[in-house]
Amino acid sequence: MIRDKFIYILGIESSCDDTSAAVICNGKILSNVVANQEIHAKYGGVVPELASRAHQQNIVPVVQQAIQQANIDKKDLNAIAFTRGPGLMGSLLVGSSFAKSLSFGLNIPLIAVNHMQAHVLAHFIEEENQQKPPFPFLCLTISGGHTQIVKVTSYFNMEILGETLDDAVGEAFDKSAKILGLPYPGGPLIDKYAKSGDPDSFEFTKPRVEGLNFSFSGLKTGILYFIQKKVKENPDFIDENLHDICASIQRTIVEILFDKITKAVKQTGIQHIAIAGGVSANSEIRKVLKSMEEKHGWTTYVPKFEYTTDNAAMIAVVGYLKYLENDFSRESTSATARLKVSHR
Ligand code: KG4
Ligand code: ZN
Repeated sequence: MIRDKFIYILGIESSCDDTSAAVICNGKILSNVVANQEIHAKYGGVVPELASRAHQQNIVPVVQQAIQQANIDKKDLNAIAFTRGPGLMGSLLVGSSFAKSLSFGLNIPLIAVNHMQAHVLAHFIEEENQQKPPFPFLCLTISGGHTQIVKVTSYFNMEILGETLDDAVGEAFDKSAKILGLPYPGGPLIDKYAKSGDPDSFEFTKPRVEGLNFSFSGLKTGILYFIQKKVKENPDFIDENLHDICASIQRTIVEILFDKITKAVKQTGIQHIAIAGGVSANSEIRKVLKSMEEKHGWTTYVPKFEYTTDNAAMIAVVGYLKYLENDFSRESTSATARLKVSHR
């Protein structure tokens, strides 16, 4: 059938504080609309109840815009993919209920997507000049909610080799930024100020964690005590040293990450290394990763910027891969706040 030459999938993402919808056609993204929720900046972090309400307001216009920008009619869609979890329950429910109703209304299949798998599989979106990682590869998934080293053997065969025991790396960035009086989310601001700072200005104690696991809560406390002490001595300490402090914090976090990923490469012998998740937008992480190609002979894979932070394009590409395998979900499939990356 000619119609089946082109498979159109609508992806919907609503796991945290971004409402997003995207249309993919045979692996190529036609649209990827993201509505950020400004409201949380005021509170210094995501407020779940407010996130859920904002999703309710955003979901219809965001989906409509995604379909319009893709230049298709909703009747052209072959399936609807949505984030099943992990994430905030109230937020997930908005996206999943909407996806279910629309699939019912259009009489097309529904595809449940694991958000953590989607971050990894964003690497399989068809893009010009973008190499896809070959299997097996290691993916360092770093976001506001997660820090994982994942061994990816095939699209849906993923194994966690190491993960954080407490805070995620994005939280380490955001909480450090908060200590410095920067607004939420502070990760991109630390990245920005670090560019003109000296990374060796200050030393912070790094955590000692066995194996390939991470810990970031001690670092945050260390930074808090350091800043409190310095501000007592000089109330203008932060203003006078902001760029150097940011560069030093960023260097410490980057060293922690690369220490573990280097260990994972040694342990597994796998030298194809990908990064994913919101924190992979960080310019220093990208730079250091690239330098590992020459230094250690790794081949590295970095997703396009817009596919790193939460977005529906990554949900849509997983939808497409599952569609090809006839892996559809029942209407009774429920959203779930906790979902392991190994769970299809
Ligand atoms: O993947 P994401 O959008 O949401 C979650 O699933 O958590 O990641 C958001 C996180 C936030 O903590 C934000 O501060 C961080 O990614 N982030 C960055 C940068 N851009 C986003 N952290 C450091 N440097 C950046 N350039
Ligand atoms: Zn995410």
